[in-house]
Amino acid sequence: MAVTENFDLAHIGGVELFTPKFDESLHFFRDICAMREVARIGDSSYLRCWDEYQLYTLKLTASHTNGVGRTLFRATSEDALQRRVAAIEAAGLGHGWRDPEVGVGRSYEFEDPDGHLMGIYYDTEHYVPDDDDRPALKNQASAYPGRGINARRMDHINYLASDVNKAGEFWRDVMFARESERVRLDDGRYGAWWFRFHQKSYDVVYSDDWTGERGRFHHFAFAPDSREDILKAADICLENGIYIEYGPYKHAINQTFFLYVWEPGGNRIEFANAQARLLLDPDWPVVEWSQAERAKGQAWGMKTVATFHTHGTPFVANQEEIDRKALEGH
Ligand SMILES: [Fe+2]
Repeated sequence: MAVTENFDLAHIGGVELFTPKFDESLHFFRDICAMREVARIGDSSYLRCWDEYQLYTLKLTASHTNGVGRTLFRATSEDALQRRVAAIEAAGLGHGWRDPEVGVGRSYEFEDPDGHLMGIYYDTEHYVPDDDDRPALKNQASAYPGRGINARRMDHINYLASDVNKAGEFWRDVMFARESERVRLDDGRYGAWWFRFHQKSYDVVYSDDWTGERGRFHHFAFAPDSREDILKAADICLENGIYIEYGPYKHAINQTFFLYVWEPGGNRIEFANAQARLLLDPDWPVVEWSQAERAKGQAWGMKTVATFHTHGTPFVANQEEIDRKALEGH
């Protein structure tokens, strides 16, 4: 049965993404995805999608490597924040409170069992559009860009993990997110695990990292308005030389329509649309898929691309060779 603590997290609040090709990555997110740059501080650009009420969701940071920095999650209230911080501290994974920063108030920093850096906060800065960005309707955060992929909002994040079970148990037992679906491998371990905060079928996902590394990033996803937008996104990426890894197609697990690309810095980005599908049952039982069911491929039968299990960021040594061999079936 769902309990109060299952509703302590509101949504993914922001992600820091590292890129060794800052200018090209900025072009991808700002010009191709139609995000808006709201701040530039040091080596970082802060970017937002048009239907996001907060100041920003993507902190793009120039770096010698790629991968994910800190992911921020918004709590649903100050009480919820305090409950989750107490649980994180009890689990021994807390780093401590951080002062307010761009877009968010005081936050509590921690890491998951796989070493991914995270933060949780409640106080936030609501975006106030200027004359150039004021929407026609007052119930919308900012003006509809109507260009490029036109990403509406950030939807979810998917991490690679050296131990999916440990990471998932943390999200189930400490963060109190509810499981929606999972893949159980023949050896009993989980190969992937999906968690939801509310009625959207997932917000945080962990997948098995076949390289055995800790703390790597698989992808985050933007939600465009419609399935048609994802088909259009594929054409736009093709036209702009953005590597299309997989899709457009429909997932079997959680049934989202998807497209995966690698942005110029090498990080995987997804465009995903769940259409009208929601998990309305607060006690929806977790759906478990066997290794054999998973091996059947996606919803309409297409097999999962081999690089899905090898490509992650930051790159491991010989990442390109590993990906190439995976595609060649070695
Ligand atoms: Fe995804």
